Formats: sequence, structure tokens, C-alpha cells
Amino acid sequence: MMLKKNPALTGCICGAAGFAVAAVLVITLVSTSDKKERNSVRTEQALSDIEDYIISNVNADNIRNFLRYMTLKPHLGGTLGETELAGWLASTWEEQGLDEVHLVPYEVLLSYPSQDLPNLVRILDASNQAIWISAAKQKPLYAPEESLPEIPFTFNGYAAAGNATGEVVYAGYGREEDFKFLEENNIDLSGKIVLARYGHIFRANIADMAEGRGAIGVVLYSDPSDYAPEGSDIVYPNSYFMPPSAAPFGTVKLKDGDPLTPFYPAVESAYHIPQDEAPIPKIPVQPISYEDAWHILSRMGGVEAPSEWQGDLNVTYRLGPGFQQQDLRLNLDVNNIYQQNITHNVIGIMKGSVEPDRYVLVGNHYDAWILGAVDPNSGTAAMLELSRVLTQYSKETGWRPRRTLVFCAWGSEEYGLLASVEWAEQFGKQLADRTVVYINIDMAIEGNYTLRTKSAPLLYDAIYSSAKKVPNPDPEEVAAGRPTVYDTWAHRRPDPRQPDMPLMQFIGSGSDYKSFQHNLGIPCTDFRYTHDNKTLGEPMYHTLYETFELVDEIYDQGFEFHKAVTVLWGDLAVVFSEMDILPYSLRAYADFIARAYYDITTQYSALIASKNITMEYFGKAVENFNSTIITFEGNLQNVDFENPLQVRKINDQLMMVERAFIDPLGLPGRPEYNHVVTAPSKKDAYSGTAFAGLTDTLVAITEASEDQLDDLWRTFSHHLAAVTHFLNTAAKVLTDDLW
Ligand SMILES: *[C@@H]1O[C@H](CO)[C@@H](O)[C@H](O)[C@H]1NC(C)=O
Ligand SMILES: *[C@@H]1O[C@H](CO)[C@@H](O)[C@H](O)[C@H]1NC(C)=O
Ligand SMILES: *[C@@H]1O[C@H](CO)[C@@H](O)[C@H](O)[C@H]1NC(C)=O
Ligand SMILES: *[C@@H]1O[C@H](CO)[C@@H](O)[C@H](O)[C@H]1NC(C)=O
Ligand SMILES: *[C@@H]1O[C@H](CO)[C@@H](O)[C@H](O)[C@H]1NC(C)=O
Ligand SMILES: *[C@@H]1O[C@H](CO)[C@@H](O)[C@H](O)[C@H]1NC(C)=O
Ligand SMILES: *[C@@H]1O[C@H](CO)[C@@H](O)[C@H](O)[C@H]1NC(C)=O
Repeated sequence: MMLKKNPALTGCICGAAGFAVAAVLVITLVSTSDKKERNSVRTEQALSDIEDYIISNVNADNIRNFLRYMTLKPHLGGTLGETELAGWLASTWEEQGLDEVHLVPYEVLLSYPSQDLPNLVRILDASNQAIWISAAKQKPLYAPEESLPEIPFTFNGYAAAGNATGEVVYAGYGREEDFKFLEENNIDLSGKIVLARYGHIFRANIADMAEGRGAIGVVLYSDPSDYAPEGSDIVYPNSYFMPPSAAPFGTVKLKDGDPLTPFYPAVESAYHIPQDEAPIPKIPVQPISYEDAWHILSRMGGVEAPSEWQGDLNVTYRLGPGFQQQDLRLNLDVNNIYQQNITHNVIGIMKGSVEPDRYVLVGNHYDAWILGAVDPNSGTAAMLELSRVLTQYSKETGWRPRRTLVFCAWGSEEYGLLASVEWAEQFGKQLADRTVVYINIDMAIEGNYTLRTKSAPLLYDAIYSSAKKVPNPDPEEVAAGRPTVYDTWAHRRPDPRQPDMPLMQFIGSGSDYKSFQHNLGIPCTDFRYTHDNKTLGEPMYHTLYETFELVDEIYDQGFEFHKAVTVLWGDLAVVFSEMDILPYSLRAYADFIARAYYDITTQYSALIASKNITMEYFGKAVENFNSTIITFEGNLQNVDFENPLQVRKINDQLMMVERAFIDPLGLPGRPEYNHVVTAPSKKDAYSGTAFAGLTDTLVAITEASEDQLDDLWRTFSHHLAAVTHFLNTAAKVLTDDLW
């Protein structure tokens, strides 16, 4: 009954031509994958028709035009620029013909630089006169929009206002080990201003560690050795390397979402915690360019910094504290203001015909620190083209997705995932119950070297398989015998543990998938085309120079890389919306968990055994999860695709696997992360370690003083039992048994 409502499914068996293609397809299916266990022949044909249509219809010029429009002026979260863009996105989706378009407002705490008092760093002499002052704004270098009056003064989101004066200390990359190094060298940070390099860890962690050690301010810069390795002549606009005047913006708020309404949505009825309890720094923090950092570093005193901390500026980097000329001090003058403003999500819906209450989410934020041509609007442009192609296909053929497609344009992501977190908090129960996948793009491209992918293990196989279908946008790679996006990815980013495979990165945090993966237990992925490894990150990231011209003239002339990402995004979306049985890679999950178990026991078995704590139950749960999966997959061969209840039952069981790892209490000391397998490690919210609750506690044990050990071991044992329980639950949900 339910199946008949899907015109795509009935459509493909009525035409003789369609049937002939279907017959050919059966052969390939039998000879290739296990997809035949997951799809009826009819679905397989309908799906492959849409996949072909996406490949032939995604248009690079359209993407270029969308990007041009969105990057004409700044659209920072909560400002008029963002609100206008939200309205434009909504009307674009309405014109394209999505079934529903919603503007979803949240009133959240944001932070802005003052309109008239710029944030400045000064070097003061003994009589408090400034002998040097940093730039208030980044210098316009190339694109006309770089000179717009709306370009804000340079700032870090949520950095406290303050006017701090003191001695400066250089803290390398501001990692935990860097701060430890300073401690070991008896450099006390209390009352000091920390100068740190951006690049290895989330800047909010740098600020938090500095504040925790008594620093009164933090100045962040990006060193040319990490972002302009070929010297200052070969920089934007002549190349994609960082110019001397670039000062990357970024949030320094540690936790995600609206700072005043943790765990609950920022709706009218919300309770707001006092601002001084919000997870935002109490000290001023400010980014500066490397040409400005030179003025500080070149004057610093103290011993030479370790070789890893030496950069490419033509000075000897010293630790401080203070300057060689002892009466000089550093002054950090930050005049940011907090404001509660409205930010919007724009949500566009294409209703499913067979299972309208099952959602495939695709999303990308649309707010930008400044012009945002790479981060995020290369992704927004791709999303608009994807929705255009799918609505066009629907108009031409009468196709409706089997499951509902939800297009999400998130507001105020740059401030710390504000509006996606609020949305996931507001609609979390429905979303957790009904969403089969969330496919996030933060930016479609930040280079044209290779695909880079972060993913929940459940999505690995689907991603490999879709990437193998996407034509390679790089003609040189095609000429070298690598015709698909997958081929270049496997060639240029192999997995060191299995060199014949492309590297799948861990789904840490740092973009809008956070709530979906780590709080709701929805499998997520995030991908983009990225640069090679000459630089630590994308050099223009969050700077004024992330312009349309950078994308159009340097990264993606012709927009073919954007097109490839759009096709991949679309392919995954329709695979998840159309396949009868959800294409989750259970075995990849079992392998991933077994490997993490192996890594933990290898590294820490002696330590754990010294406490007589047994890993046996955990080990058995790992085996049990694996063997249950083997049985479950064996049973998939017998699925009757004509029996919608049977298909739905299997999909319900599949969907429960990721949910089973959600601990309502959260990870030890971290209630904002619930997923016991995939939560990112504590020390750096951008990266990930499997079973972070266990590994973070073990690391803490190796570093703890004697009096902290008992508590830490209790935490470890307690969490080990929780993880074991959830692992057994994840196996159980794949069976029909209550116990
Ligand atoms: C925040 O919202 C207020 C009220 O709508 C508006 O006046 C103000 O300009 C907004 N702030 C910024 C920085 O755009
Ligand atoms: C901050 O302190 C410096 C140095 O004393 C001073 O020149 C400057 O005017 C102060 N800034 C503000 C906004 O008061
Ligand atoms: C070092 O760099 C600074 C700033 O770019 C420049 O002004 C100075 O001339 C350079 N000095 C040498 C010796 O190259
Ligand atoms: C960068 O990539 C090249 C080529 O794949 C490799 O040889 C080199 O070791 C990599 N460098 C770093 C720092 O990862
Ligand atoms: C790829 O990026 C490099 C810079 O990293 C650029 O020189 C090259 O032209 C780009 N290729 C295309 C097709 O845009
Ligand atoms: C899972 O079980 C299968 C079949 O018993 C076995 O071949 C495989 O090695 C197991 N994998 C893991 C990760 O334990
Ligand atoms: C571990 O168990 C052994 C044997 O029962 C016992 O001798 C030892 O004291 C225990 N160690 C700890 C740390 O509890």
C-alpha cells in the first residue's frame, strides 16, 4: 500500500525502456555489492535515474552566480546582513518549489566589536605612550568589497571587553603541552598577556587555558611558516597564501549554542542564566596579523623559544616575559559589546512520499565572519544548486523522495554553532526519533587538492560508494588514470592504517553537525574539497580575504570542484532518502569500535590492571556487537521489500544503533556531549578520539597528583561500565528481543 504512493517506484516499472535498463542493472548489482540486500530492483533503478540526473544537471555557473550574490557584503550572525540573506535564501527556495520554507528565529547572546572604538594592541613606554599600535581593520588588498564601510573592526567573538596592560609571554601554539612547557620553565602567566599562534587547536581552548593560568589577555596571530610558507611576495591576491595583514576572526566561546540558554532552546519562554555564568572568557582576546605580531615578537626578551615555536618572521622568537627594553609593556584594548539579537535558521522541506516522517538532513551555515566566500557560502551556493536540481527533477518527472529531505541553512554558526544547536534543542525529540542522517557542509571548497571527509562510521560505505560515482573535477587527475573523486582522495589522502583506502577522519566537533551526532545520536558526515599540506589550514580562513575573487580566480576557476561536492552531497542525500534499507555500514562501526578497544587496551592495559579493573566485560561487549551485526546482516538477505512493515522494522532497528550510544548523563564532567563513542576529546574540541570519556580520564590519571587519583579511577570505572552497557544495548537493538 505505502509503496504504491511513490510515483518514482511505480514510474519505473511501467515504461518498457525503464524496464530494460532495470534488467541490465540487476546484473551489475548481482556482480558488485551487497546493495541488492538493501534495495528492490525498482528502487535501485529509480535511484540510479536520479543519481544520473544529478550528475548531468548540477551546473557550475549557477553555483558561481549564487556565490557571487551572497558574498557582495558582510553577513555576520545577528546583523542586518544575515537577516537579509536569510530572507533571500527563503525566497530562493520558495521559487525553486520546495514544499515548505520556514524562517526559524532565536534570540541569542552575540558579541560585536564596537562601531567606534576599535580593538587595539599597543606597545607602551614608561610614560604610557604608545610606541606602536596594531591595525584596527585588515587592509583592503584586491576585491572591491574588502573596502566596504560595513567591514567590522577586527575582533574575536565573545572576547571580553577590557584594557589590559602587562608583560607579554609567547606560548607557541597555546596547546596544553605548550603551557606545560612554560610552567616547567618557571614562566608564570598570572598578570601576563599571552601571545599565541593559531593553527593546531581551537582558539577558545587557548584562551581558556591562558585564563585558567591567570593571564589577563590573549593575543592570537597566525605565523607565516604555517600559512605563507613561500614568503610574503607569494600571498593573496597572487596566491592563496596568507598576506601579512590578515587577522583571522573566530569565536572564543568554549561551549556550543546560545551561551545564556544551555541545553534548552532560546525561545520566548526560555530561562536565561546570568551572563557571568556563561561559558565565555572573562579576559580580552584579540587576533592580529603577522605583520603586527612582528612588532611584538621582534622586541621580546627572555630566553629563546624552542625550535618548534620558531616561525618564519625574521626574528628570534623569545618566551618573555616582557620586552628586551624593560620599561615597555604590552597593552590590549578590547571594546567588544554583548548584544542579544535575533538569528534565523532557514529550513526548506521536500516532503517524502513513502516515509514522510523519516528525515534526511542536509545543511550548511550561511552566516560569515566577514564576506565568507569559502566559509561557508561555497557550501551555501552548492546547497542552493542541489535544491534547484532536485526540485527541477521533481517537476519534470513527478518524483518525490521516499523520505523527507530537509535543507537547513543555519544562522550564527561562527559564534559557536548557535542556531543549529538551538534548533536541535527545540526539536530534539522528533529529530532523534526520525532522522536517518545529517550531511553537513561547512564549506564546499577550501582548496582543490582532494576531498576530505569526517564521518560517523555508519556512513563510511555510503560515502565511499557515492564518491566513486562523482566524476573527478581535476583534469590532471583524470589524465593520470583517476576518473573519480574517490580515486584522487584515495591517492592523495590514504588511510595510514589501510593505505589502499582513503582516510576517513573522525567526526569531532567544530561545525553544525555537533548536536546531531553528539547529542541526538544521528549519524553525521562533513566533507569538502581541501588544500594540500603546505599550510596548516586554509590560509584565508575567517579573514577579510575570503572573497568571491579568491574562489573564482584562485581556488576553483570554473567551479568544477564546487560541482563535484554538490554532486556528492546530492548523491548521498538521495541514497539515504531512496534506499529501501538504510545503507549504514554496521561492520565499519564494529571495526572502528574494535580498533578503539584495541588501542586503549594496548596503551593502558598495565595501568588499568594495576587497579584490578577488568576490561573483560568491555571486550565481550565489543565482540557481541560484532557478532550481532554479522547475524543481522545475514538476515537482511531475506527481507521482503513488498512488506513495508518489515522494511520499516529493519530500518527502525538500524536507526537505533547510533542512538544506543547516547548517555543521557553525558560524558564524565561534560554533560554537553552524550555520545560515548564519538565525542571529541576534551583538550581540543576540533579533534576526536574514540571513547573520549575513557581516554580523557586515563590521560588525566597519568598526569594527576596522588590526591586526585581515587576520584579519577572511580570516574573511569563508572564510565567503563556505562560504555559497556551502551555497547551491549547497541547490539540488542538490532534484534527482535527485549532481552
Ligand atoms: C542587533 O539587533 C539590534 C536590534 O535589532 C540592531 O539595532 C543592531 O544593529 C544589531 N546588532 C548588530 C551588530 O547588527
Ligand atoms: C586603554 O589603555 C590605553 C593605555 O593606557 C589607553 O591609551 C587607552 O585610551 C585605553 N582605552 C580605552 C578605551 O580607554
Ligand atoms: C624583517 O621584517 C620586517 C617586517 O617585515 C622588515 O621591516 C625588516 O626590514 C626585515 N629585516 C630584515 C633584516 O630582513
Ligand atoms: C605532505 O604531503 C607529502 C606528500 O604526500 C608528504 O610527503 C609529506 O610528508 C607531508 N607533510 C606533512 C607535514 O604532513
Ligand atoms: C587549484 O588551486 C591552485 C592553488 O592552490 C590554483 O593555482 C589552481 O589554479 C587551482 N585550480 C583550478 C582549476 O582552479
Ligand atoms: C567480527 O566477526 C567476524 C566473523 O566472526 C570476524 O571475521 C571479524 O574479525 C570480527 N571483527 C571484529 C572487529 O571483531
Ligand atoms: C589486586 O588484586 C590482588 C589479588 O587479589 C591484590 O593482591 C591486590 O592488592 C589488588 N590491587 C589493588 C590495587 O586493588
